[in-house]
Amino acid sequence: MKNEELLEKLKWSMIEWERGCPQRIQHFLKVSSFAATIAKEEGADGHTVFLVSALGYIHDIGIRLSLEREGRSDGKSQEKHGEPAALQMLKELGFTDQDAARISMIVGKHHTYDAKIEGLDFRILLEADACVNMFESDTSQEAKLTMLRDVFRTAAGKRIYTIMFDLAPETVSSSSGSNA
Ligand SMILES: [Fe+2]
Repeated sequence: MKNEELLEKLKWSMIEWERGCPQRIQHFLKVSSFAATIAKEEGADGHTVFLVSALGYIHDIGIRLSLEREGRSDGKSQEKHGEPAALQMLKELGFTDQDAARISMIVGKHHTYDAKIEGLDFRILLEADACVNMFESDTSQEAKLTMLRDVFRTAAGKRIYTIMFDLAPETVSSSSGSNA
């Protein structure tokens, strides 16, 4: 199956998964779009664009399970329930074992900012999620600058984030650093 078809199937599978929760449906559709936009602007290869698009759709799959099973939805609980659920959904939809493993591994770590972040796909998901979260949670400009400094590493991610929140250009250059 073509990757484009897999992405459409995953998108609809997640829309069904989040039945009755328009906030989370709108969230993941936006994160996937930001992730693909950043990846393309970074010149990422087609497979990476595919992976980050899928990650955008599925990254918060653990929230519903976390709420149902534990009555809470903190990052750790989401990660614990999200990783196996993501792996199962991706395999059922026909993702390769390798892609399903990579995507679900990141689902299981994406709230752990102090985890060693390896790979452009993982970095772009965090940046895309931050682009949406910092709008949806209506945070202060100071918090937005902290997020810029702590999470954003790609030029495209910094560009879209600073334009969107009209942050001063000097904050971009001061936040550039390694991918470590
Ligand atoms: Fe998210």
